[in-house]
Amino acid sequence: MNAILRSASVRYRRDVPKGTPILVAKGIGKSFPGVVALDNVDFEIRAGEVNALVGENGAGKSTLIKMMAGFHAPDEGEIRVDGELLTPSPQAAHAAGVATIHQDHHLVPNMTVAENIMLGRWPSRFGVISRREQMARAEAVLARVVPNLSPTTLARQLTPAEGQLVEIARAISEDSRVLVMDEPTTSLSPPEIERLFQVVDDLKAQGLGVVFVSHWLEEVFRISDRITVLRDGRLVSSIPASELDHAKVIKMMVGRDVQQVKYSPRQAGEVVLHVDGLSRAGVLEDISFSVRAGEIVTLAGLVGAGRTEVANCIAGIDRYDEGAISIDGKLVAAGDPKKAIKAGIALVPEDRREQALVPKLSVSTNITMPLLDRIAPRGVISESREAEIVNEAARSLSIKMASASVPISTLSGGNQQKAVIGRCVALGPRLLILDEPTKGVDVGAKAEISEIIIRLASQGAAVLLISSELPEVLALSDRALVMRSGRIAGQLTRDELSQESVMNLATMG
Ligand SMILES: Nc1ncnc2c1ncn2[C@@H]1O[C@H](COP(=O)(O)OP(=O)(O)OP(=O)(O)O)[C@@H](O)[C@H]1O
Ligand SMILES: [Mg+2]
Repeated sequence: MNAILRSASVRYRRDVPKGTPILVAKGIGKSFPGVVALDNVDFEIRAGEVNALVGENGAGKSTLIKMMAGFHAPDEGEIRVDGELLTPSPQAAHAAGVATIHQDHHLVPNMTVAENIMLGRWPSRFGVISRREQMARAEAVLARVVPNLSPTTLARQLTPAEGQLVEIARAISEDSRVLVMDEPTTSLSPPEIERLFQVVDDLKAQGLGVVFVSHWLEEVFRISDRITVLRDGRLVSSIPASELDHAKVIKMMVGRDVQQVKYSPRQAGEVVLHVDGLSRAGVLEDISFSVRAGEIVTLAGLVGAGRTEVANCIAGIDRYDEGAISIDGKLVAAGDPKKAIKAGIALVPEDRREQALVPKLSVSTNITMPLLDRIAPRGVISESREAEIVNEAARSLSIKMASASVPISTLSGGNQQKAVIGRCVALGPRLLILDEPTKGVDVGAKAEISEIIIRLASQGAAVLLISSELPEVLALSDRALVMRSGRIAGQLTRDELSQESVMNLATMG
């Protein structure tokens, strides 16, 4: 096509041949106090291709994405969209057709789903359009991404999975040139992920360029045409996915081979956790089970089966109508998180940033918050004791940070998550409950977290694990309880545990 026609039709995506670079970033450098986040990075988004951006926690993925979305200005280098220099502002990026879903995404809680989608595409590039037309368009995209969701639902009533899909609907409702997604699948179930990928395939066919960030390599290989690896803020390589495999990508990300954690049996001791007849109207029905010292028990089931609700009841976050929970034979008061911690219960919640962190406070304070009586025995905080606890957490989980005194919000997403796990471990709990502990953390950290869980169990703690990652479940669990619709549908011994046996119990009516 000749150049004049091209420039006249540049908004019509179908006219751009597959593989044409749309967004080109060259020589990007960015530093924060004490950290070089990006160093001389080149990056391209091409029409009709998915470019997966991978790397360890803190490698610089989100920083690069925020730059393409206009949130950060590069210290060095430049970003061009269709050859034009991108002004570093979210409005300019938006106007250039860069649609972004950030890692810490948010909807307006008291607005409906449709209003949230409209918010993202207003004012319209084509001038004023009626509210009714906007609503109709919002509903059309929604139907494409989440067909079963009513557009009049309030955002605060959505599950994390629904919220994430609405975010995606909001982003693609633009007539975007590129769609940039920072860890869009972390709260999605496998069928929801598959639906998202179908939407992505569709957008690709329409000529959009897509960027996809995930720590789950299965997904990366399922969806991407090209894989770009960052390590410590530098570009390692950007090559076609067909030339790579898991092991090669891991090696490029981490710089070494990562040893998979293997299961080894432990000796189970006395009953630590006993749950008896736990019920909560409409959510949980007559849940009873025990976990012994040294045991790692997985709570399996589909999203929505009630696993997180069980965890929250045990940890005193949710109340329950009936039943009793005890630790080492002693009853634990219901609905009181402080008393649950006193009783020796530590919970790593699924939504760690929302539920477990105070963003403005330092890494150090966030880790030691619930340990105050230990580091301040007479009301005075012992700085050396505090530093010891924080250093141990940072070391065992490789938490990447400029120093322990920076606000925790300046850490990368995965490193914030690791800090929550570090805190729970530092509590030295009798019962450690982990709700999807390795979501959002990199391959190396996954192995480190598994090792820490095994170490705690070997020292006599009871562990209750909620995880959607079967390899992790297989490497860790002594047995599994499978939940379905708020009940325990059955129990699987370690030998019985497999993808099929869990699915059978989780889905059979
Ligand atoms: N606003 C900020 N202030 C200070 N440091 C920051 C800020 N944003 C990012 N950083 C630092 O820049 C580095 C890169 O962070 P970034 O969030 O880009 O990592 P990431 O690759 O997205 O990691 P993750 O997989 O954990 O999400 C980290 O060391 C992080 O602490
Ligand atoms: Mg990130």
